Amino acid sequence: MTHDQHFRVWRGDDEKGELVDYPVEVNEGEVVLDIIHRLQATQAQDMAVRWNCKAGKCGSCSVEINGRPRLACMTRMSTFDENEVITVTPLRTFPVIRDLVTDVSFNYTKAREIPSFAPPEGVEPGDYRMAQVDVERSQEFRKCIECYLCQNTCHVVRDHEENKENFAGPRYLMRIAELDMHPLDSADRQKAAQEEHGLGYCNITKCCTEVCPEHIKITDNALIPLKERVVDRKYDPLVWLGSKIFKR
Ligand code: SF4
Ligand code: F3S
Ligand code: FES
Repeated sequence: MTHDQHFRVWRGDDEKGELVDYPVEVNEGEVVLDIIHRLQATQAQDMAVRWNCKAGKCGSCSVEINGRPRLACMTRMSTFDENEVITVTPLRTFPVIRDLVTDVSFNYTKAREIPSFAPPEGVEPGDYRMAQVDVERSQEFRKCIECYLCQNTCHVVRDHEENKENFAGPRYLMRIAELDMHPLDSADRQKAAQEEHGLGYCNITKCCTEVCPEHIKITDNALIPLKERVVDRKYDPLVWLGSKIFKR
């Protein structure tokens, strides 16, 4: 079955832009990215969109569809009414390069600011031992495809450019939580989370969790546990010291 749909796509660059209307054909089984590709093939050859896998795994095709941050390749056209106007805009939190493509380098900067896994001295790779339960805890966080939908959605930076410098965002606070839960990591992640990566800015609204295409429970399983540890430690530094000693 084929029908026509009214698409409205944001076209422009970092200086100016506008929403442009396109009537476009939709076929059964298609996703929003298929329609963007059809627009490129028929009426807007120069429309810029970032994508790669078309399978929800590379995290490249993040856009906002009717105001909701989503992967264009995983958003089925059948979820919309045929008479609905589908508005596709670039991620709002990051600067536009052109059309639907944004500059997501904020996220790379934040990733680089987190020191990597720090094993205890004297333990060589190959000699690391950890319980299966600890391995499994971090598996959930490792499903992240770095689509940055959570980073784009969190209100701490979405509406507040001034917070970007001091706030790592949910994806990278989750990375810090993962390292803090690692029984062999010896760095002081809790202090860094609080003092350098803005954990205190997060007021657990859970918007990040709601948009995660991998259904990672970012808030419940990473951010809240990290906050709880930071609070414990604030009241009793021995709690932190003890946790590091006893988890080895
Ligand atoms: Fe995307 Fe989820 Fe990873 Fe955030 S945590 S970047 S929403 S996959
Ligand atoms: Fe932002 Fe998620 Fe916290 S949306 S405020 S990081 S719970
Ligand atoms: Fe790879 Fe959409 S194109 S996640």
